[in-house]
Amino acid sequence: MEYVTLNNNLECPVVGIGTYMLAPADAENSVREALKMGYSLVDTANAYVNERAVGRGIKASGINRDEVFISTKLWPSEYENSNAVDETLARLGVDYVDLLYIHQPAGNWLAGYRQLEKAYREGKAKSIGISNFEGKYIDELQTKWEIVPQFIQVEAHPYFTQKELRKILDKYDIRLMSWYPLGHGDKSLINEPLFAALGEKYGKSSAQIILRWHTQMGFVVIPGSRNTAHIRDNLNILDFTLTDEEMDEISGLDKDQRYYHRTDEQLDQFAMWHPQFEK
Ligand SMILES: NC(=O)c1ccc[n+]([C@@H]2O[C@H](COP(=O)([O-])OP(=O)(O)OC[C@H]3O[C@@H](n4cnc5c(N)ncnc54)[C@H](OP(=O)(O)O)[C@@H]3O)[C@@H](O)[C@H]2O)c1
Repeated sequence: MEYVTLNNNLECPVVGIGTYMLAPADAENSVREALKMGYSLVDTANAYVNERAVGRGIKASGINRDEVFISTKLWPSEYENSNAVDETLARLGVDYVDLLYIHQPAGNWLAGYRQLEKAYREGKAKSIGISNFEGKYIDELQTKWEIVPQFIQVEAHPYFTQKELRKILDKYDIRLMSWYPLGHGDKSLINEPLFAALGEKYGKSSAQIILRWHTQMGFVVIPGSRNTAHIRDNLNILDFTLTDEEMDEISGLDKDQRYYHRTDEQLDQFAMWHPQFEK
C-alpha cells in the first residue's frame, strides 16, 4: 500500500473501497472481501444507511481495527444532534473513526463542523473533512474553522480535475478524496482511447489507468464496486508509474464535465431528509 501524509501527520492509504448505493448485504460483502484482499481504507456515510453493515464487514474480515482507516460522514439531519458522533460510532461498532466528514453544505453546516472539531479534540475522529464544499462554501468555512480539515471529498476524474479547488487545497495542505473516480461507471470516460493505449503499455485495464492517475495526482481514491474481480483490480494499481507526459495527457482530457449537478433546491431537500438507519 502507498500512503499520503495528512496535514496533522496522520497517514492515509491512497486506495480504498467506497460503499455508496450498496445495500447492507452488498456493503458487508464488499468490505469484508476488500479487507481480506489487502484494502485498508473504507468509506461510508450516515446517508448510505449501511454503517452497521460496514462495521460487520470489518469484523468479519478478521483484520484488526487499528489496521483499517474508517471514513464516514455526518448527514445534515445530524448536524444539530449532539449525540450524532457517538451514534455514528455505535453503528460502526468502533470507538473512533479515522476520518469524519460533514457530507453536504446544507442546513446548519457550521454546527456540523463544530461537532467534527469537538470529535477531533476528543480523539473520536483522528482526522476531519468536508464533502461537497467547493466554491463559496469552502470560502466561508475558511473564515470560521478552528481546525483546518485534513480532507475534502468531491467529484473528481479525468473529465473534471478540480483545477480551481486545488489552488485552495494547496494553500492549506488539504487532501482531495475523489468521488466518482471512474465517472460512476460512465462508459465514455472508461472507453477513452488514451486509457486503452496506456493499459496496453502497462498491462492494466482502463479503470486501473484512471485510478493510478488519481493517486499520482495526490488524490485518495475510493472506487465503488459489487464485483469482486473489479475490487481486486482497483487495488492492483500501485506496481506501475505513469510518466509525467502521460499524467499531463490524462489531465488534458479535462472538459469541466461533472456527472452530478447539485442545485440549491437539492441542498434544501438534503437538509430536510432523515436517513432511516439500520436497526
Ligand atoms: N461525498 C459524496 O457526496 C459522494 C458522492 C458519491 C460517491 N461518494 C463515494 O465515492 C465512492 C465512489 O463513487 P461511485 O462508486 O459512485 O463511483 P465510481 O467508483 O466512479 O464508479 C463505480 C462504478 O464503476 C464500476 N467499476 C468499479 N470498478 C471497476 C473496474 N475495475 N472496471 C470497470 N468498472 C468498474 C462499478 O461497477 P461494478 O459494481 O460492476 O464494479 C460501478 O458501476 C462511493 O462509493 C462513495 O463512497 C461520495
